[in-house]
Amino acid sequence: MISTVTTIRDLRTTLLGWREAGETVALVPTMGALHQGHKVLVETAGKMAKRAVTSIFLNPLQFGPKEDLAKYPRSLEADQKLLSEAGCDLLYAPTPADMYPPDFAAKIDPGPLGTILEGAARPGHFTGVVTVVIKLLLQTMPDIALFGEKDYQQLLIIHRAVRDLDLPIHIVGVPIVRDTDGLAFSSRNVYLSPDERKCAVALPNTLQETAATIREGKDIAAALKTGQDKLTKAGFTVDYLELADAHTLAPTRTLTGPARLLAAAKIGATRLIDNLAVAG
Ligand code: PAF
Repeated sequence: MISTVTTIRDLRTTLLGWREAGETVALVPTMGALHQGHKVLVETAGKMAKRAVTSIFLNPLQFGPKEDLAKYPRSLEADQKLLSEAGCDLLYAPTPADMYPPDFAAKIDPGPLGTILEGAARPGHFTGVVTVVIKLLLQTMPDIALFGEKDYQQLLIIHRAVRDLDLPIHIVGVPIVRDTDGLAFSSRNVYLSPDERKCAVALPNTLQETAATIREGKDIAAALKTGQDKLTKAGFTVDYLELADAHTLAPTRTLTGPARLLAAAKIGATRLIDNLAVAG
C-alpha cells in the first residue's frame, strides 16, 4: 500500500528526509479519480526525479455553483493501487479544512488568460485552479511539477503564475494520453453512457480532421465551421472549437507559428475538452 500523508507537517517531514539525502522531488497534482493519463504523469515524474509525490485534492474552489463537485468521481482505493503500480513514492491527500480554513481569503488572479475559452465558460475556475496549485507547490516545494496537456489552458496559466511569482519549480507538460479509439482519458469519461461513449470519439476525430484541413492551407474559419457542424451532427453541443496561438491562446486565422486547436463540447450532461498542436 502506498505511503500516505494528510497533513502539511507530515508531508514536510517526509520531504525533509529525502532532501537531506540529496534526493530530487517531482509533484503530480490531481483531484483523484485517476486514469491512464495520470499513470503516465506519475511514471514520467518517477523518471525525471528520484521521488514522485502525487497529491489528491478535490478542490472546491475551482468548481462553479452549478458544476459537478458533488458528483465528481471519488475512488481513493483504486487511486492508491494505480499510484503503487506507477511507482509513486508518496500520496499527499490533504483535507478541505486544512487547505481552506474558515477564514481563508487569499486568492491568485490568473490574469487575462484565465478569462477566455475555459475561463469564459467557467468564470472563476482558473482562480481556483491556480490558487490551489500554488498552495500545493509551496507546501511541497518540488523540483518539478507535471501536468497533462489535455488541460492545455490550465498548463499555460500555471507556467505563467510560477514564472510571475518566481517559484524555482520546473513545470512540465505531458502529452495527452488517449484510449484506443482516440478519446482522451479524463476522470469525467465515467459519466458517459455506453452510447455517449461511442459518439464521444467524434471529438478527437473532428480535431484531427480540422487540423489536417488547416495544415493543407484551407480557409481556417471555414474549417472551424465544418468541424463545429460535424460535432453537432455527432450529438455534441459545441462550446467552442478554436484555433489559437499556442502561447497566448489569442484566436488566429493564419498559421504563422505554433498554434493549438482547442475544443469544449457537451454530450448529454458531460462536458469534454480536448486539443491538438497544429503547427510546430
Ligand atoms: O487538472 C486537475 O486535476 C486540477 O485542475 C489540478 C491541477 C489538480 C488542480 O486542482
